[in-house]
Amino acid sequence: MSNNRGRILSGMRPTGRLHLGNLEGALRNWVALQNDYECFFEVADWHALTTAWQDTGEIRANVRELVIDWLSAGIDPQKSVVFVQSEIKEHAELFLLLGMLSGVGWLERCTTYKDWIAKNFEPNYGLLGYPVLQCADIAIYKADTVPVGKDQLQHLEMSRELVRRFNNTYGEVLVEPKEKLTEFPDLPGTDGQKMSKSHGNEIQIAESPETLQQKLRGMFTDPQKLRRGDPGRPEVCAVFKLHTVYNPDETAAIDPPCRTGDLGCVECKGKLHGAMLQALAPLREKRAELEKSPKHIDDVLEDGNHRARAVAQQTLAEVRETMKI
Ligand code: TRP
Repeated sequence: MSNNRGRILSGMRPTGRLHLGNLEGALRNWVALQNDYECFFEVADWHALTTAWQDTGEIRANVRELVIDWLSAGIDPQKSVVFVQSEIKEHAELFLLLGMLSGVGWLERCTTYKDWIAKNFEPNYGLLGYPVLQCADIAIYKADTVPVGKDQLQHLEMSRELVRRFNNTYGEVLVEPKEKLTEFPDLPGTDGQKMSKSHGNEIQIAESPETLQQKLRGMFTDPQKLRRGDPGRPEVCAVFKLHTVYNPDETAAIDPPCRTGDLGCVECKGKLHGAMLQALAPLREKRAELEKSPKHIDDVLEDGNHRARAVAQQTLAEVRETMKI
């Protein structure tokens, strides 16, 4: 691998199948970055445990599902290192060491932590350490660039601070990472709010044609347009928003008849269904192929874990050396 390109690390928690918000907001970006950077993509299964530590029954299956979603969207394991966090024990050691440099008050000011404990009264130690573990993930690969959404900006800022504190204390071994913000606007879910697993309004990447149709049928449009003939307002309509993403060539033709009322929502959703099926067909086909060869997924992960481990071991050796332990 060449070292004159920048190095990227990013990750996702394996919490179930990905939805279109993940695809458009993150994954497409990762796929494009593979050509310009040396990329490490991590399945952050330890991070998933910080909030869902009781229900581990699905976690191994979810790791594989996530990797299948990534590969079907175009992550290329020949170009990028695809690996599982819990397989690289060096993350745990660096996490422990960085924990010594992490003030409890500083960690308690993390917004994602505060939001979580506002809803759940007994905060756990693992969750408090979430940003420290995330910093270890990034720093152990000396990644300089981290593509993330805006919800992760504070974690990135904390990673930078922690790396700086480490380097100032022990010597310049780690690299301060900068974020690469995804520009894509939020995609609306079936209820018109931002598509998110926590809202239960998501459309999965791998949705079957039938469930896709059902979800689109139930989708919110302009609340003032109750039946065909009523004038609609594309600018407030979630279905129209999805047209702009999955059916861009037809949006100019859909806008006027929606406004006059000549185009009903049922018909408009039918057009969207057709366009989305077409746009997502390559991903669905790739997924079907990948599902038939579990051995291939094993091989991808074995190779990725191996490549990741080699880098992580090297960094950790330097960390121990500079810390004199
Ligand atoms: N916290 C990230 C999320 O929930 C996932 C993650 C874990 C991550 N480790 C990372 C993202 C390192 C970027 C870099 O989306």
